[in-house]
Amino acid sequence: MSRMKTFYLETFGCQMNVVDSEQIVGIARQLDYVLVDSPDRADLIVLNTCTIRARAERKVYGHLGRFKPLKQQRPSLIVAVCGCVAQQEGRRMLEKTPHLDIVCGTHNLHLFADMLRRVQTRRERCAEVSFLDAGQRRRLFPERLPSDEVTRFVTVIQGCDNFCTYCIVPHVRGREVSRPSAEVLEEVRALMRQGVREITLVGQNVNSYGCKEGDEISFAALLRQINAVEGLERIRFMTSHPKDLSDELVACFGELEKLCKHIHLPVQAGANSVLRAMRRGYSREQYLDRIARLRQVCPEIRVTSDVIVGFPGETGADFEQTMDLLRQVRYAEIYTFLYSARPGTAAAELPDDTPATLKQERFDRMLALQEEITGNYHESDVGRVLPVLVEGSSRQGSGQLFGRTTWNRIVNFDGDAALIGHVVPVRLVRAFRNSHLGELA
Ligand code: SAH
Ligand code: SF4
Ligand code: F3S
Repeated sequence: MSRMKTFYLETFGCQMNVVDSEQIVGIARQLDYVLVDSPDRADLIVLNTCTIRARAERKVYGHLGRFKPLKQQRPSLIVAVCGCVAQQEGRRMLEKTPHLDIVCGTHNLHLFADMLRRVQTRRERCAEVSFLDAGQRRRLFPERLPSDEVTRFVTVIQGCDNFCTYCIVPHVRGREVSRPSAEVLEEVRALMRQGVREITLVGQNVNSYGCKEGDEISFAALLRQINAVEGLERIRFMTSHPKDLSDELVACFGELEKLCKHIHLPVQAGANSVLRAMRRGYSREQYLDRIARLRQVCPEIRVTSDVIVGFPGETGADFEQTMDLLRQVRYAEIYTFLYSARPGTAAAELPDDTPATLKQERFDRMLALQEEITGNYHESDVGRVLPVLVEGSSRQGSGQLFGRTTWNRIVNFDGDAALIGHVVPVRLVRAFRNSHLGELA
């Protein structure tokens, strides 16, 4: 019998890549590769990449550089790049990186097995980066491996049509294509039978689900159907675009008992002039109105956000408007990014005369403000007893269990492993930056 082949996989970027990486694992397993946790002795190395900011892209080339000596030692090693940098760079990447064998774009995972065989049998280096269209929907939503986890992502929509002026995603992920609702439900039911208790519906903009000609139902209608799946405990979704947050969807937070009281609703900026230049499709006032409506139907809902600091032309006054919005909304958490010009995007052409040091200063001030707001939430939660869905044993190896509150906050506590997969009441006893310590109540 031949020796088992090994493969090493590293995943960068967002929820879309996490799902794609599961598929990569499935493909490699079918070709008799076993997953290992170090690239040093692997027969196949796969990087599933992200190019959302320049730094993410640079990181990929940094990682690839590390594999060059490995390839020199073992010329049979196969090095592959998948995901958004692969899509952005295409064949050019093979020219730039002589020890790279495979460039597999975001719509091309169905060709990955064949590409591997081409390299294995003919040492043929290959790049595949064509986009599929809605007619080839099945390939965009392939079958999944069974799961032994309590929580799981389920893709409902691929691509993005929004073309926010700073963003490369529509260029590397193609046009929006929704998955048929029957297929989504079928997958949710199958996951349920495997023991999954919480699902997160994912897409770059889930609120566009079902909005195109030929689609059947709205995202809110899909949520209602999933809410009716027996045995499922919780539903989340990610990411929502504020301009497409319909009244019907807002109402779901008041009606669907399984829908968690958390929404990630990235605002990006607080000044109307900047929102316009970003082509976000909503004003500050409209955004605040949607937050108010969410809190009206679901007073306990917690909101998180993404914010970009230093968009071209952002003035000091614009920045203060974002700071003011953060104080007004009181997000439970925000993810702050320094603007990064991306090739092919409209904003990359805009003049940008704000010095980097000033942007950094604004960035630091924003972090400090949010730290205070987030800290307040976490401190005032201490003492409360909350339902926690137990997901598994703590990653710190402390012998504890961990789970999440409806707000997606991690809680570590002592308990029996038999509780995994169940919702239990936990009293929060101490707040840390990234988690709470709790005790079974
Ligand atoms: N689809 C999601 C976001 C996807 S990208 C949405 O529309 O909200 C995740 C986050 O990265 C974005 O919300 C934005 O804050 C940030 N981002 C995207 N492009 C960026 C860029 N060029 N520079 C800095 N941050 C960026
Ligand atoms: Fe990018 Fe905007 Fe699409 Fe989000 S909605 S992925 S920020 S273009
Ligand atoms: Fe990155 Fe691609 Fe996601 S650019 S954020 S991995 S869609």
